[in-house]
Amino acid sequence: MKIEFNHVEKRWGKTKTLNDINFTIDDGDFVAILGPSGCGKSTSLMLMAGIYECSSGEILFDDKVVNNVPARSRNLSVVFQSYALYPHKSVLENILFPLRYIKPAIPAEKALEMAQKVAEKVQVDHLLERMPSELSGGQQQRVALARGLIKSPKLLLLDEPLSNLDATLRHSMREELKKLQVELGITTVMVTHDQLEAMTMANKVIVMNHGALEQVGTPEDVFLRPKTRFVAEFIGSPAINILKGKQHEQSLVVGNGKIKLHRALGEDGKDVHVGIRPEGILIGNDGYQGRISDAYIVGREWMLRLDTEFGELRAIVPAHCNQFAVGETINFDFSPEHVHLFCPSTGLRYCSLAEQTDRTKKAA
Ligand SMILES: Nc1ncnc2c1ncn2[C@@H]1O[C@H](COP(=O)(O)OP(=O)(O)O)[C@@H](O)[C@H]1O
Ligand SMILES: [Mg+2]
Repeated sequence: MKIEFNHVEKRWGKTKTLNDINFTIDDGDFVAILGPSGCGKSTSLMLMAGIYECSSGEILFDDKVVNNVPARSRNLSVVFQSYALYPHKSVLENILFPLRYIKPAIPAEKALEMAQKVAEKVQVDHLLERMPSELSGGQQQRVALARGLIKSPKLLLLDEPLSNLDATLRHSMREELKKLQVELGITTVMVTHDQLEAMTMANKVIVMNHGALEQVGTPEDVFLRPKTRFVAEFIGSPAINILKGKQHEQSLVVGNGKIKLHRALGEDGKDVHVGIRPEGILIGNDGYQGRISDAYIVGREWMLRLDTEFGELRAIVPAHCNQFAVGETINFDFSPEHVHLFCPSTGLRYCSLAEQTDRTKKAA
């Protein structure tokens, strides 16, 4: 199902929770709505579900305005973080529950068959006789998912579906849920504050902040071409380095260092925020110098903290290449596609250093 938000706003009394939200979700998309706590993610989901009403603007499903269509007629399911199974009903009864509102009634035998099939899909078919209290957190979450899927909805809405699970389980459920979504092809919208979850599961990410939309794009778009400084800082771990720079001739003066530009961004003295991704710091035999103030390995990568002429920088370096020790001095350079230039007042990104080169080439 295709979904559109057209100038959608939500106010509670005088406070505006959502401000002029516009986006399109295509049929079959797995979309993550990503942003910090309180930015309006759940509110957006509740509007889609028809549980809340828009204060203004339109929501369209398959090109039809649904503002006045009640929740039960929207052909969707919602799975919440607190997946609240009915404690006195068995797993089977929990899964069957949504069917009781379908008219005309589905014959019992057919309903059982549907429950069995959906339980197999999420791998709880061996637990149908159990009570929710006899299940682990992960199993409960799967049952909640089965309950959401039994009606074969055209739209699946998930609000922080994995937040209650421990780290290992969350990791495996991420992969499973992604696989299941691809297999079923149901348009899915998942709310999350976890950027890694959004980036690894969704094919489209909607980044929100303070009730406004910051960027809509593929995971690659939001990581490599963040529209704003907020997006650049929210996505990626460890976070992008943000340094204050000032334009001087064809360079940016940052701390005591200078980063060469391919063309000036404006007048001399213009303030620019420079964002350098930790993965954009390349260790080599020449270039700038940095003194290691912290070094540790996570998985297959070194996390370094460097004191440099530009200021302090976090760097990520593949672990197999090198050994590092605190106090050592090393050489590094920047990879230009990971150096972004932002307007300090609006937070909008001008371009990356790599894009500057491209444009300079085109102009020549
Ligand atoms: N029923 C409500 N009445 C008043 N304010 C609300 C209500 N629901 C949410 N809000 C406010 O709207 C803002 C966004 O909430 P929410 O969408 O739940 O954020 P998120 O899911 O991104 O954490 C918050 O500031 C919250 O306090
Ligand atoms: Mg929420």
